[in-house]
Amino acid sequence: KINLGETRPEIVKLGNGERPKEVDYSSENRGTRVRVLGRVHRERKQKDLCFVTLRDGYGYMQCVLAGPLARTYDAITLTRETSMMITGEMWEVPPGAHAPNNRELHADYFEIIGKAPGGDEAITNKVQEKGDPQTLLDMRHLLLRGETASSLMFVRDAVEFAFNAKYHELGYIKVAPPALVQTQVEGGSTLFGFNYYGENAYLTQSSQLYLETAIPFAGNVYCIEKSFRAEKSLTRRHLSEYTHVEAELDFINFDDLLVHLEDMICGVLEHVLANPRIAAMLQKLNPDFQMPERPFKRMRYSDAIDWLVENEIPNEEGEPHKFGDDIAEAAERRMTDIINRPIFLTHFPVEIKAFYMQKEKADPRVTESVDVLMPGVGEIVGGSMRMDNFDELMAAYKREGMDPSPYYWYTDVRKYGSSPHGGYGLGLERFLAWLCNQHTVRDTCLYPRYMGRCKP
Ligand code: 4AD
Repeated sequence: KINLGETRPEIVKLGNGERPKEVDYSSENRGTRVRVLGRVHRERKQKDLCFVTLRDGYGYMQCVLAGPLARTYDAITLTRETSMMITGEMWEVPPGAHAPNNRELHADYFEIIGKAPGGDEAITNKVQEKGDPQTLLDMRHLLLRGETASSLMFVRDAVEFAFNAKYHELGYIKVAPPALVQTQVEGGSTLFGFNYYGENAYLTQSSQLYLETAIPFAGNVYCIEKSFRAEKSLTRRHLSEYTHVEAELDFINFDDLLVHLEDMICGVLEHVLANPRIAAMLQKLNPDFQMPERPFKRMRYSDAIDWLVENEIPNEEGEPHKFGDDIAEAAERRMTDIINRPIFLTHFPVEIKAFYMQKEKADPRVTESVDVLMPGVGEIVGGSMRMDNFDELMAAYKREGMDPSPYYWYTDVRKYGSSPHGGYGLGLERFLAWLCNQHTVRDTCLYPRYMGRCKP
């Protein structure tokens, strides 16, 4: 049996003997006999000839059923998505012809394993390329078999793997904070609450507070977990359940945090692009992709307000922006698209940011906070230095009208050996939407969850 791509090892010849990983069927391996298993990605029938492109997740392979094989009932009625086994000889494709990896399998035998329906029930009728978006989402389990949807999942896997690799290279350890919690991180309006054995509990909005409790034993630490937000608006970048890459760095200052973020983002991209199969997929998804220039543009919130006023981009009330305004999604995206490079937007006012953020010494109206903005998507990262003084944190709970008692374990980080520390959260789906040039985060996760959708 061999795998259809060349990216996973172990190509085994039927009979005996191992084959090398990269097989060149135009040379001494021409005519190698193999057995392949997969699903019909495409089929084209001609008189006495049936071309089948098989797919097995490792790659695609063109197979040719010729002569009597092409005249069998199974070949004549072959449908897309049917799973099958084919044995035959591997040849390079004739000059002028094209096939994946430049090779084709000349079948001498095949078996149908699981027949897929044709006619009205055929997959091509269920998932139509330009179909209505809601129907396509209902049919996402079938849509995922397509080349674009599946390549986004391959890139996603590579990106997540690259984050793990980069963090481990830097000596960070990974922990797994709980998803069921009794504290809020990013404000009460997006909490999903539920009954936890008779007590109130929530689905976590962010693992940040738990990561902070891990730094005293772990040092720099990270997690890749689900976060949940009861977002009551339907936008192209908001999900109710998303994958959150979060890290917390000990004994740092704000500038260290920004430099780390640049290194991490660029390091992950380099790691991903070093994988030839993924690089080829990215080239198709986003042919204009360019590695971001370092350092990223740094822009204080107050300068962004001035920029928005100068460029006549109004706030949500249709008025010129003023200090203290939340920069809404539309304005943020317009600014990012015009500037057209990654931006570190820093030093947001205390009032519009979360309770835990450290204030800037020079200007205590603002926080040592950062959003990373990317063209096409806007904010992909939110981070900050954390308040490390016990009394200040107690005052922050009070200011926000929060009862400090459920946060006792979080407050203790300041009581038992406090340290200057900071961290961030990166939305994996948004990072992918930017990297793969996708209009919406709904296409960069396996099964999106947002208001009104909880299936498949
Ligand atoms: O800016 P946010 O809310 O920050 C936090 O949750 C911090 N506690 C993280 C931390 O410092 N550890 O969210 C961080 C990122 C956003 O920049 C965005 O990429 C993503 O999480 N995000 C969402 N992604 C998809 N759907 C949503 N509803 C999202 N809300 C936030």
